Amino acid sequence: MKHYLSIKNIDSLPDWVSEARELKENPVAHKALGAGKTICLLFFNNSLRTRLSTQKAAMNLGMEVMVMNFGSEGWQLEFEDGAVMDQGKSEHIKEAAKVVSQFCDIVAIRAFASLNDKEKDEAEVVLNGFEKYASVPVVNMESSAGHPLQALADAITLDEQNKKAKPKVVLSWAPHPKALPHAVANSFVEMMQLQVADFVITHPEGYELNPEITKNIHIEHDQQKACENADFIYVKNWSSYSNYGKVLHQDSDWTMTTEKLGLAKFMHCLPVRRNVVVEDAVLDGGQSLVIEQANNRTYAAQVVLKKILEN
Ligand code: CP
Repeated sequence: MKHYLSIKNIDSLPDWVSEARELKENPVAHKALGAGKTICLLFFNNSLRTRLSTQKAAMNLGMEVMVMNFGSEGWQLEFEDGAVMDQGKSEHIKEAAKVVSQFCDIVAIRAFASLNDKEKDEAEVVLNGFEKYASVPVVNMESSAGHPLQALADAITLDEQNKKAKPKVVLSWAPHPKALPHAVANSFVEMMQLQVADFVITHPEGYELNPEITKNIHIEHDQQKACENADFIYVKNWSSYSNYGKVLHQDSDWTMTTEKLGLAKFMHCLPVRRNVVVEDAVLDGGQSLVIEQANNRTYAAQVVLKKILEN
């Protein structure tokens, strides 16, 4: 594998999950693999989990790590070919990506959706700009339309916790005061399409995800009905896709509660707004998997970096 840009780069999800679980048993078993190698983590947006878990994963593999908050500390980048750069943008992606490649063996990028321009967001200009012009492998640490490291960690968590041949897994929309991107939900959906599961998506009308991603997955607009007899409920907010980037309404009755959760395990990628997305009792209760999901971010990143280093 050269790059890890989306769930589509996973050739066998069961094999990757199994390898990640082996790494979790002995995280420093392959410390020699990354010796003398450097990963550069470039953040155009904030992070807690992705930053620390990817750094930890690289360190477990013996790599050196360089981190840059590009969004606040780097030059503003131009991505358009042939642009006349007489405005605010100081550096073109063509030079930036080539220069970064001289300093590292892998570059990892976080660049969220703008939520203003659907076409530009879907073109993944930052991630694809680095993929096009960097001479080293590129890892997606959450782009406009996908968060494949999160979804791989979620697959590890599901594998650890699941006891059924075909569990019922629900992806439920939840309210949020701000417009959020579709990346986590998109990658979770793509990952679930590789699983043997009864998978249901529930959201209020108007919050349909990109139909090219959801394809023929069962969508249920009645949240309570969708959650009945679920084994896992993954809760996440996203803004409207058709009315791009808009918060249509708050729908506080979509907050996840212990009643709706029933006997299911609760999942969320974090960070999470308490008592808006999910009530305290769920997060503080024994059915919440959120801390273990965050822990598994390290082994998701580690299996990805290991495969790139081995290539
Ligand atoms: N879940 C996740 O990606 O967390 P951060 O935004 O804190 O990295």
